[in-house]
Amino acid sequence: MKTYKIAVMGGDGTGPEVTVEAVKVMDAAAAKFGFKTEQTEFDFGGERYKRTGEILPDGAVAELQKHDAILLGAIGHPDVKPGILEKGLLLRMRFELDQYINLRPVRLFPGVFTPIKDKGPQEIDYVVVRENSGDIYTGSGGLMMKDTPHEVATQTAVYTRFQVDRCLKYAYEYARKYGKKARGVGKENTLALVGKTNVLTFVYDLWERAFHEMGQKDYPEIRRDYYHVDACCMWMVKNPEWFDVLVTGNLFGDIITDLGAMTQGGMGIAAGGNINPDGVSMFEPIGGSAPKYTGQGVINPLAAICAMQMMLQTLGEEKASQKIEEAVKYVTANKLKSLAAGKMGYSTSQVGDLVAEKVAD
Ligand code: IPM
Ligand code: MG
Repeated sequence: MKTYKIAVMGGDGTGPEVTVEAVKVMDAAAAKFGFKTEQTEFDFGGERYKRTGEILPDGAVAELQKHDAILLGAIGHPDVKPGILEKGLLLRMRFELDQYINLRPVRLFPGVFTPIKDKGPQEIDYVVVRENSGDIYTGSGGLMMKDTPHEVATQTAVYTRFQVDRCLKYAYEYARKYGKKARGVGKENTLALVGKTNVLTFVYDLWERAFHEMGQKDYPEIRRDYYHVDACCMWMVKNPEWFDVLVTGNLFGDIITDLGAMTQGGMGIAAGGNINPDGVSMFEPIGGSAPKYTGQGVINPLAAICAMQMMLQTLGEEKASQKIEEAVKYVTANKLKSLAAGKMGYSTSQVGDLVAEKVAD
């Protein structure tokens, strides 16, 4: 029997509560589909930092590297200055484990409210492949003459051809395997580059050339589209049905996926994967730690459950992953009153039970 070593990192705020539910559903799927998991808990996050001053202890990355995947709850603590945990923990894990893809599906499930009028699950059904290792995130730049009237701040978007190519390759392969044609819901598989070639004439020129070169040579059957990022935001609201797989740089990807998350029902459902196709990947609900709901059992665990579902898909447990997705859809369509914290009509653990029962069924 296949055994997966899973590092479980509940993190801060409501992170641990939702992670427990994701693990509950994972255990149900393991029993049903004949695989095993060996779970190791890691207590990284704001509490540990406050207690010990340590964000990511020495050797932690090496320890994480011994696992098949990481399941993360949430990082962010109201008593810790913004930036410290994000940089010291989340971004550091992404960089050191070279999780160069951030995969964020934007899928509206049945029964879920979207603020976009007249659009439903058929229209809101695409995926953003966000490059996760470069861009303005890498810390190039600085402050000069700080605290003087002449102060200068620079922060530079940096991309290497290598980074761009490996991301595009992932995106093309993803479009081939999971595009709308591959899933039987469209006529073709489409990959669209989201950039800003009219202003960022160096960085997105590189992306655009690499995008077409690779597409022409290795993926001629995949349709290629291009959107400027600002226009893309417009179409995400007006015509989301145009999209299939989108690929973009780190910062644009960060921004458009929050917009996407809102159109798919919000932070209660949006999940993502930080993926190193040749290494250890980390899956997380993309909402934050929601400190004000901590410990009340009212937060929605579906985003964490969907993150775990993406983890199983990436590990190759396709059947289990499909079954979990169906179970989540069943629960959103037939059970939950709302996805919002405290308004679901069920507690956090009851929602976990509903999904786990459906998976076991
Ligand atoms: C995200 C978050 C992070 C990011 C922050 C917390 C550093 O917004 O995962 O989208 O910018 O990548
Ligand atoms: Mg973000």
